[in-house]
Amino acid sequence: MNDAPLYLHLVLAVLILALVLASRVRRWRAAAVAAALLLALTGAHNFMTRMKSPPPGWHALIGIKILLALHVIAMVFLLARGGSAEQERRWRRGAILSAAVTMIIGLYYSNFAR
Ligand code: HEM
Repeated sequence: MNDAPLYLHLVLAVLILALVLASRVRRWRAAAVAAALLLALTGAHNFMTRMKSPPPGWHALIGIKILLALHVIAMVFLLARGGSAEQERRWRRGAILSAAVTMIIGLYYSNFAR
């Protein structure tokens, strides 16, 4: 199997988490939005290719992962647009928490469950 899209997905995930952690989503708005859209695209590719031989529990946990990933992407869009200090603090915390769980589930299934 060609793993390049999976590695691209990983690099984009680390990039987007780094931008959120460093509070630089607004400054690097174009990069953040592009990374979010490419994450959804490479994620859809991973989903279609990895669904063929799923380990136990894959569908349930990957379903949760995708919903959390969509939450991360929505928070990144909001941070790119900007809001009050209080809103941005909440969006940033939500994005970090969801990104952490999303990455743990993704890394578990692509590295340990197979
Ligand atoms: C709608 C968007 C997304 C979809 C559909 C999606 C789907 C997937 C799928 C199917 C996998 C492979 C799991 C397996 O090997 O069985 C994966 C891996 C992964 N995902 Fe996503 N994902 C999305 C967005 C995100 C986001 C926003 C993040 C992090 C902020 C993320 C982080 C990861 C990581 C770290 C991996 C493991 C990559 C590797 O080991 O190389 N994903 N994703």
